[in-house]
Amino acid sequence: MKRLLLIFTLAISSLFAMAHELSSPNGKMKLLVELLNGTPTYQLHLNEKAIIKQSKLGLELANNQSLMNGFTITDVQTSSVNDTWKPVWGEQSEIKNNYNELALTLQQKSTNIKILLRFRVFDDGLGFRYEFPEQENLVYFVVKEECTEFAMAGDHKAWWIPGDYDTQEYDYTTSKLSEIRGLMEKAVTPNASQTPISATAVQTALMMKTDDGYYINLHEAALQDYSCMHLELDDKNMVFKSVLTPDAVGNMAYMQTPCTTPWRTVIASKNAGDILLSNITLNLNEPCAYETTDWIKPVKYIGVWWEMITGKSSWAYTDEVLSVKLGETDFTQTTTNGRHAANTQHVKDYIDFASEHDFDAVLVEGWNEGWEDWFGKSKDFVFDFVTPYPDFDVEVLRDYAQSKNVKLMMHHETSGSVRNYERHMDTAYQFMAENNYNSVKSGYVGDIIPRGEYHYGQWMVNHYLHAIKKAADYKIMVNAHEAVRPTGMSRTYPNLIGNESARGTEYEAFGGNNVDHTTILPFTRLVGGPMDYTPGIFETKVSVYNPDNNSQVRTTIARQLALYVTMYSPLQMAADLPETYNKHLDAFQFIKDVAVDWDKSLVLEAEPGDFITYARKAKNSENWFVGRTNDGQARTSEISFDFLSADKKYIATVYADAKDAHWETNPKAYEVRKYQVTRKSKLKQLCAPGGGYAISLVPIEDKNELKGLKKL
Ligand code: NOJ
Ligand code: CA
Repeated sequence: MKRLLLIFTLAISSLFAMAHELSSPNGKMKLLVELLNGTPTYQLHLNEKAIIKQSKLGLELANNQSLMNGFTITDVQTSSVNDTWKPVWGEQSEIKNNYNELALTLQQKSTNIKILLRFRVFDDGLGFRYEFPEQENLVYFVVKEECTEFAMAGDHKAWWIPGDYDTQEYDYTTSKLSEIRGLMEKAVTPNASQTPISATAVQTALMMKTDDGYYINLHEAALQDYSCMHLELDDKNMVFKSVLTPDAVGNMAYMQTPCTTPWRTVIASKNAGDILLSNITLNLNEPCAYETTDWIKPVKYIGVWWEMITGKSSWAYTDEVLSVKLGETDFTQTTTNGRHAANTQHVKDYIDFASEHDFDAVLVEGWNEGWEDWFGKSKDFVFDFVTPYPDFDVEVLRDYAQSKNVKLMMHHETSGSVRNYERHMDTAYQFMAENNYNSVKSGYVGDIIPRGEYHYGQWMVNHYLHAIKKAADYKIMVNAHEAVRPTGMSRTYPNLIGNESARGTEYEAFGGNNVDHTTILPFTRLVGGPMDYTPGIFETKVSVYNPDNNSQVRTTIARQLALYVTMYSPLQMAADLPETYNKHLDAFQFIKDVAVDWDKSLVLEAEPGDFITYARKAKNSENWFVGRTNDGQARTSEISFDFLSADKKYIATVYADAKDAHWETNPKAYEVRKYQVTRKSKLKQLCAPGGGYAISLVPIEDKNELKGLKKL
């Protein structure tokens, strides 16, 4: 009996010691997990080609406790999932979730600590995470370092921004992995808030391309109660290692079992479009946490905003506080600067424009007291989120907006004073509910107060989610700026309808974004979720609004239209001023028509850093929209309309760069043309440097409407 048991135990332990292989549902993506002298490792192959070479897994805890080695495998479970689910809003109305799973329980001999490694292999990539089951020997613990490796198989081309615990608002650099260090050391940081972590640390989602044409994307999913991950490159061996965001005393995460880390994700394909359409990030998040979601609606909005960003107007009602002592009396006088945009009449004009052109909402920034003290000029003032400036009449505007069937969008700039925001949060959301606001744009400009915490540490990650959940109690949708980059959490909390978390259009008024910026963002920042990029700038010379600002928006008008399709978001702004749109109502028509929620999305052409062309079918409609964004080179786009219904004819309205358009010298040269189109049609369209095009496709019942229209 004893012998039998021994043989059995040996058989089991050798089974557990061997390599564990798991393939994706179509068999092409292959994961291999094995212990290397007691250290867990994994590797990933696609079509037999190494995407991730053998890479180590493990963590270092505080008190010098290492979870890096000395493990044996005590349990192995496999399972499969193949189902579909419906997002509240999204790029597709149905999302397929199809993967094979491997769950390995590891036990460390010296401590008896158990970790479970869970891997999910999809046809387009891998997700894995560390799970810490409830156990006697591990109850509370502090993560000092996560040591997850991603070993690359070569010196890939990469689209990257420097790792930074506090900002994501960088321009992208395109280079070989081996060139990152040199470029980072040479880089000038034009923005005082930029502090790269090291010469080889980069942010996720990181996009790469191998010499033989494979696209690889590294990111994370379901970042909750943990700190955000960066990747540090060992550029001798081309191995990335996770670098978490520390807290004020240098710890990475405070944990209590049972708990898990976020998922680490690898998306890989021979086709760039597959990276854009991958649903791995969403699929690795939990289903919707809310019972009702009918209060969550995609939003198209305008805002009292670009005029402040360009410097034409100001957020503050006053810019000077004069304090004079007259005898025994302190006499304080504030002077109105005359440039305060959030005044009742001006906001009414925006509401009129929104109503006339069928926008859902008007964002108003600078409506509340505190901007004159922004960044604590007087040290003792912080926003309370309920006190308007004297020239902003909350009740009048509430009633006016309601009468025009337009919502006002709230703005909460916290100026990084997070405890202050949390203290006022209930009153602030209650104030919104009472005054008919159903969405808020929040912001976290400046260093976090309490000092020492970073924007992407666990403490702030918890705050952002707290704000989203609390907003949900009041049926409020959230668009958070300067918050941590999204990781698909909008599946669980769909009132998170937008994030900035990257360099947005505002930088076009602060010197400019690289011309290829919007051909990279969908491969990087947008992998985690939608971005409030705020497109729609038609007046590219900022000096038209503010003679002291010489920035130029690096785009043609046609490309600004394309961004409504290429930069997926259920929250889309028309960011320019009504007076400018009134000069280009033919082009503006596209912004009015374009959908913000979709049944289907297709990628027709894509190469990171060069161009992206999407086609999307509007939700519950037969209308399609196409958008193409181009880098700084003139290129010809060639697309087929074979995605259209076979039994329908469409009118295509093409908004394209004119032949001589150029972002720098001739940005406003666009043409609007109409054609008859069927699924047999094809289009060859020249795209200017910094240009692109947008197309709306509407099926036609009445053949007479097609008369005189050229066939494509
Ligand atoms: C930075 C945000 O990105 C911008 O949109 C906002 O207007 C300013 N902060 C002021 O809150
Ligand atoms: Ca910002």
